[in-house]
Amino acid sequence: MLPDINVTFKIQRFDPAVDERPRFESYPVTVQGMMTVMDGLWQIFETMDSTLSFRFACREGICGSCAMYINGSYRLACQTQIRSLKSRDVSVGPLPHFTIIRDLVVDMSAFFEKVEHVIPYFQTLSTPEKEHLQSPGERRHINEAVDCILCGICYSACPVVWFNKEYLGPAALTKAYRFIADSRDEAMKDRLAQVSSEDGVWRCHDIFNCADSCPKNISPADAIGKIRRRILAKKLRRSSK
Ligand code: F3S
Ligand code: FES
Repeated sequence: MLPDINVTFKIQRFDPAVDERPRFESYPVTVQGMMTVMDGLWQIFETMDSTLSFRFACREGICGSCAMYINGSYRLACQTQIRSLKSRDVSVGPLPHFTIIRDLVVDMSAFFEKVEHVIPYFQTLSTPEKEHLQSPGERRHINEAVDCILCGICYSACPVVWFNKEYLGPAALTKAYRFIADSRDEAMKDRLAQVSSEDGVWRCHDIFNCADSCPKNISPADAIGKIRRRILAKKLRRSSK
C-alpha cells in the first residue's frame, strides 16, 4: 500500500462579488492512494472551504467538465493523479483565456456557441428502413474525432482564439470534420461551405497547441488540415470540368 503524502494545493480563487482580481489560496491536502486532483478539490470542499467552486460531472474523463490548468498544463482534474505531478505543490487554476465566473468555473458560452454553429448532429435526407449503416472502414475516418469530449482545452490553448473571438476554433472545426467525414451524413457540401468561411479553417495558423494539449490525444490540427484538403479537392474538381 502506498504511504500517504502531504501536498499543498494552491488554488486560484475569485469571487466577483468581493474580489477585484483573482488571488491564490493554499490548502493542505493528504493524498491517500491514487487520489486525483478532483479528489483533492473535494477534500478541500468537504473539510476546509465549502465555498470553493469547480465543475465536474462524470469523474471518469468523459464529460469534459473538469478541464483546468494544473501545474502549468492543461489537464482534466478527474484524470490527473496527484502523485503523477511529482511535486508537493499543486497549483490549480481555471481554463485560461475564458472569463471567470467564480474560482475554477469559467464562462464557456462562446465555446459552445461555436460548436452549435457547425450543426453538431446528423443531417440526412433519406430515411432508411432500419438504420444508417456504416462499415468499419468508413468508421475509421472519424475514429479520432468522435472521442472529443468538448472540454474546451484546445479552444483555451489556441493563440488564434485569444486574439480573434470570431474564429470557430479547434473543437468546433473538429466537430465539423466529424460530420463531414461521416459516411452517413448528407450535408457535406453545406458543411464544407460553412467552415471555409473567413473565420473557419483558413483562420488556423497551424500552431498545434490544440493537438499538444488535448487530454484525449485528438489532433484538431489534423482535422482542420483534412477539411482544407477536401475544400481544395472540391475546387480543383470544379475548375477541371
Ligand atoms: Fe489553433 Fe490548433 Fe490551428 S492551436 S492555430 S487551431 S493548429
Ligand atoms: Fe467528467 Fe472530469 S468530471 S471529465
